[in-house]
Amino acid sequence: MSVIGRDPRETVFERFARHVSSGKAKFFRQAGIDFVIGRREGVYVWDLEGSRLINCHCNGGVFNLGHRNPRVVAALKRALEELDIGNHHLVSEHRALLAERLASICPGDLNRVVFGVGGGEAVDTAIKLARGFTGRPGIISAAGGYHGHTGFALAAGDAKYSAPFVPLPPGFTQVPFGDLEALEEAVKGGAGEETAAVIFETIPATLGMVIPPEGFFQGVRELCDRHGALMIIDEVQTGLGRCGAVWGIDTYGVAPDILITAKGLSGGIYPITATVYSDRLDAFFEENPFIHVSTFGGAEVGCYAALEVLDILEEEGFLEHVREIADVFSNGFRELRDRHPRVLLETRQRGLMMGLKMANDLCGPLMTLAGFRRGILTIYANNDTSVSQILPPLIIEEAQARQVLESLDAMLSDLESNA
Ligand SMILES: Cc1ncc(COP(=O)(O)O)c(C=O)c1O
Repeated sequence: MSVIGRDPRETVFERFARHVSSGKAKFFRQAGIDFVIGRREGVYVWDLEGSRLINCHCNGGVFNLGHRNPRVVAALKRALEELDIGNHHLVSEHRALLAERLASICPGDLNRVVFGVGGGEAVDTAIKLARGFTGRPGIISAAGGYHGHTGFALAAGDAKYSAPFVPLPPGFTQVPFGDLEALEEAVKGGAGEETAAVIFETIPATLGMVIPPEGFFQGVRELCDRHGALMIIDEVQTGLGRCGAVWGIDTYGVAPDILITAKGLSGGIYPITATVYSDRLDAFFEENPFIHVSTFGGAEVGCYAALEVLDILEEEGFLEHVREIADVFSNGFRELRDRHPRVLLETRQRGLMMGLKMANDLCGPLMTLAGFRRGILTIYANNDTSVSQILPPLIIEEAQARQVLESLDAMLSDLESNA
């Protein structure tokens, strides 16, 4: 018997409103969105009532390998025959194996790993390590960036999400993304050499899929080196093949001191995240091995599933496929810009990390709505709602990519007729 669809959609909505989130249920009702995910397979999700969408949201990259990738599902089932989460205090065979594997695909000397459950937790760990290692308080991040909703991650993100929770931890400063002069001022600022770390998403998704200017990350690296600050790169969305290389930051030829990976590492099947850091920072955790622990972080069954995710990522042809499909989108976007110059101002893309910058702040929400009618699940960038984020699964086939482009064409026409 199926575990999906026990009750009709309306009953699910009412139960959700009563016991999970009245606010979300109200928001979706008011927007006229009654979609409740039921079946899911590959690039598709189905509503409980059976209508089908191509998932171009993918929870920000969780479903890079599609929904319920059969290999990852099989790996988890195998793991469940013998493993459980393990013990986070003890030496662990599977945490060690996954850490070794992550080290082998990370740039520079990023050979050490702290595991977590969520992306925010992994960001918090990175910031703790930066402060612990340098003994400095300052953390600089991008205005309008997003690193999650936990403690330090929240303080590094946009005030929109943190304002009700003041006072925030001190020491956080924000600069415009891509502005090296402002960054230099901030790094030097305050009482001298106070900056522990600079943290950026490789491509800030919530800020609107902003592509960094030429030379930006080289500049960040140099500034950090000059001032003894650490460079933290949040690869939660851009990592694991999304940009056409293993890490988005690889495409800029720069190695950070700390790299954070989350979402896609789970294969969408078992939550697991990792904060990967340079050998030279290890002195801090060597002296304080129990100062940071996470009961479920790096659960052994999750490690086993993540190893399968990395096997797929490293298979011959995987990244080539991402780059080929990226070309299909790039050509398609050119046509869309020609066909819809009034609403589509700019397309932003690095591999399959993609965004459509449109004429005004209403366009993103309207595109999301139009997507439900036209067969695409896509969301807008919450810190620039004129941008629709387009994140298809990396395993999407060319014919499906063309279908997405056709839908986007129809959605942009819907927008024009609304304008
Ligand atoms: C760039 C980035 N960093 C961190 C996070 C936080 O991840 P999580 O929701 O797993 O805590 C997200 C989540 O969307 C993200 O997009």
